[in-house]
Amino acid sequence: MKKRIAVLTGAGVSAESGLGTYRDNGGLWDNYDPMEVASIEGWYRNRSKVLEFYNMQREHLRSAKPNDAHRAIAGLEKDYIVDVITQNVDNLHERAGSTHVVHLHGEATKVRPENCYNDEDGFSEKQVFDVGYDAVHLGDKAPNGVQLRPHIVFFGEAVPKMEQAIELVSKADIVLIVGTSLQVYPAAGLYRYASPEAPIYIIDPADVPLWDKRIHHIRKVATEGMKDFVQML
Ligand code: APR
Repeated sequence: MKKRIAVLTGAGVSAESGLGTYRDNGGLWDNYDPMEVASIEGWYRNRSKVLEFYNMQREHLRSAKPNDAHRAIAGLEKDYIVDVITQNVDNLHERAGSTHVVHLHGEATKVRPENCYNDEDGFSEKQVFDVGYDAVHLGDKAPNGVQLRPHIVFFGEAVPKMEQAIELVSKADIVLIVGTSLQVYPAAGLYRYASPEAPIYIIDPADVPLWDKRIHHIRKVATEGMKDFVQML
């Protein structure tokens, strides 16, 4: 029976693909106010500004390529059952070959009508459309005639896939965290659902403030740290 690895990734895993992180020096939130371009209030205040921000993200993604860290994570599937639970809205894990990716904060290449909600999980997946890397503008409507919005979990919105993510982390034999500052909840608290027997590793070149003594910090960039991690397995 193959062991399970839960891989929790953030913007740092895509940094070496040329996609910006959020909170490093010169990161996205140094140049944009998240409350204007990535919050539900920001959406209702100025839809065009939010649409333009994600059009820019899609444009960057068009030319970005998966890096060796994405590929190493996908390569773990040879010997393990791998659940990638990412805060990233890019599609680089999928393009590197990972077959089970849970996007906690949504996906930049997808959109949905701004009014689609149902009881269960906040919106119905069947109303989600993949626009690839194309721009979406004010006036672009879904088949139901409603304005399209980014399929992103904005600040101020619930994280519909959190329960699924908790379930996956809780049954993992190994937990690996790559490239996240662990500052945005509830995603940042996910690793705490690891079973007491599961070793936890974090790959990050920065000094990540950790309260949990059992976490093994591989203080390297993702492409280098993944080589060390694979060696340790
Ligand atoms: N390799 C590995 N880690 C890296 C690299 C790299 N090459 N470069 C930077 N990092 C690390 C940084 O040290 C930092 O700990 O990646 C982390 C990036 O942190 P953030 O920019 O805060 O990104 P993230 O943790 O993914 O943000 C979480 O915040 O704004 C929201 O929704 C947004 O999903 C995002 C969430």
